Amino acid sequence: MWPMDLASSGHTGLPDMNRLEALPAKFWSLFQARLDALGVDEETIRRFDFLGPDLGDTLRLPLQQWLAREEGSLNSLAVAFLRLQEQLSWNELQQVFGGVLAAEMRSVGLAFATLHDQFGFSLRLGALGGRWILSDRHLFHPDAVMGSSAATSRIYVATAEDATPWPGDGALLDLGCGGGALALALQPTAARVAGCDISARAIALARINVMLNGLREAQALAFREGDLFAPCSGERYSRIVCQPPFIPDVGLGHGATFASGGALGDAVTLRILRELTAHLAPGGRAVLCVEWAGGEADSWRRRVLQALEGQPLLGIHCEMFRTPMEDYCALLAPYLHPPASSSYGEFLKGMLAHYRKVGIDAIDLVMHFLELDEESSARHAVRQVPLASLDHVSAGFADAAFHALRIAYAPDEAFRKVTLRAPSGFRLLAQDDDTADTVNVEFGPGALLPGGQLPAQAASILALAGDGAELGEVVSALDGTAESNEGLIRQMLAQGLLYAA
Ligand SMILES: C[S@@+](CC[C@H](N)C(=O)[O-])C[C@H]1O[C@@H](n2cnc3c(N)ncnc32)[C@H](O)[C@@H]1O
Repeated sequence: MWPMDLASSGHTGLPDMNRLEALPAKFWSLFQARLDALGVDEETIRRFDFLGPDLGDTLRLPLQQWLAREEGSLNSLAVAFLRLQEQLSWNELQQVFGGVLAAEMRSVGLAFATLHDQFGFSLRLGALGGRWILSDRHLFHPDAVMGSSAATSRIYVATAEDATPWPGDGALLDLGCGGGALALALQPTAARVAGCDISARAIALARINVMLNGLREAQALAFREGDLFAPCSGERYSRIVCQPPFIPDVGLGHGATFASGGALGDAVTLRILRELTAHLAPGGRAVLCVEWAGGEADSWRRRVLQALEGQPLLGIHCEMFRTPMEDYCALLAPYLHPPASSSYGEFLKGMLAHYRKVGIDAIDLVMHFLELDEESSARHAVRQVPLASLDHVSAGFADAAFHALRIAYAPDEAFRKVTLRAPSGFRLLAQDDDTADTVNVEFGPGALLPGGQLPAQAASILALAGDGAELGEVVSALDGTAESNEGLIRQMLAQGLLYAA
């Protein structure tokens, strides 16, 4: 009888982290060597991840499992077991992992016995930036630790591609690090990395992931348990990356640490925004990917502005897409409630009703880039880049946006247009050819006006004002009524696009 089999065979149980954390580094290096020998890498995993993108997860998983079985190689069986929750027979498990490793996985509860003599993997393997990331398999458990998500990848890309020199000592903070995906994936780009999380289970898993990647926890890569910035009080970082828990509580008693952001989903995010300045090095940048619940037009902007008030931070906020509540609940409910259960439908209905009751009718996905700029402490500059259908927002974009923002706030350069090269896929601004690898983007401060475009009238104002024209001359040279022209000029002054000489 295998003692762990019974303990971990419950459908909703999480494996005992103390037991896994006590495993020596040698075990994880054997595990990693086996993955190498099987030819399992990030690409193999992505190949299955991208199957059936238009299907919901409940349909995708059986399709992925079927394909892995159909291929039948040890490589695809390994992915099926480690990532796709497929169960293997004891024979198959031994074939894939070898007898010694399979037995050890079983004895420590990594492989658990199910009915009909099959075995399941009690965690879930993922990859980000060439690092292996183990996370929990049952995300509807309140203590579960999530693996790298689409938002995690967006933050990773935006930070890894960052070609601007990092100010300060080159240290990176992964705030709310979970299993340490961002800390581990970004470790090669940083001089020092700290990962902090309030969840003891997350920190334990992050430490396991350190070993799984053949690394050692030390001064240059350290994980610490605690509430937000408490474990790194007094420290400043060149880069802070964070995907806070932002799911609005559904009022049905879920409240998982990795997901729950209070009634409106913004409780942790707002605390982070209020405390950010004290932990960024001058010129340092924070990248946060947040889903904001609300719906009415200005809801998240108002909350962000309020939280940042008085802080010397430049901010670029890219609103990426809006999800209606029905779609959002249908996507989310399977993570919060076991879909196999008959009460799933009721849960989904309750969730929708609750969100309606508290006034949430849509979710906005926003990438926030915030930069500590002590010289601009007189005002907090926020620019919102409007709705865009981006898969990710890269550092190239963030650099361009910060550049434009500085121009907008530097009077002597305020009217210079800059052409920057940005990776393809950006639909925020006018571009010549979105199929090219790189595209030329005409990037002036006007591009950051609400609506993304400089109204024709405003462009004429800039052209005239660029030559140092008098206000009266500008107004009379324009089409439109004096009143509407003045209104526009006032708006441009308020946005820093015009200044009084
Ligand atoms: C959405 S998950 C992100 C995990 C990981 N950074 C990623 O992107 O894959 C949010 C993380 O924040 C952590 N968290 C929640 N509240 C926290 C707090 N008050 N202080 C520190 N971490 C917190 C959770 O435990 C969870 O690991």
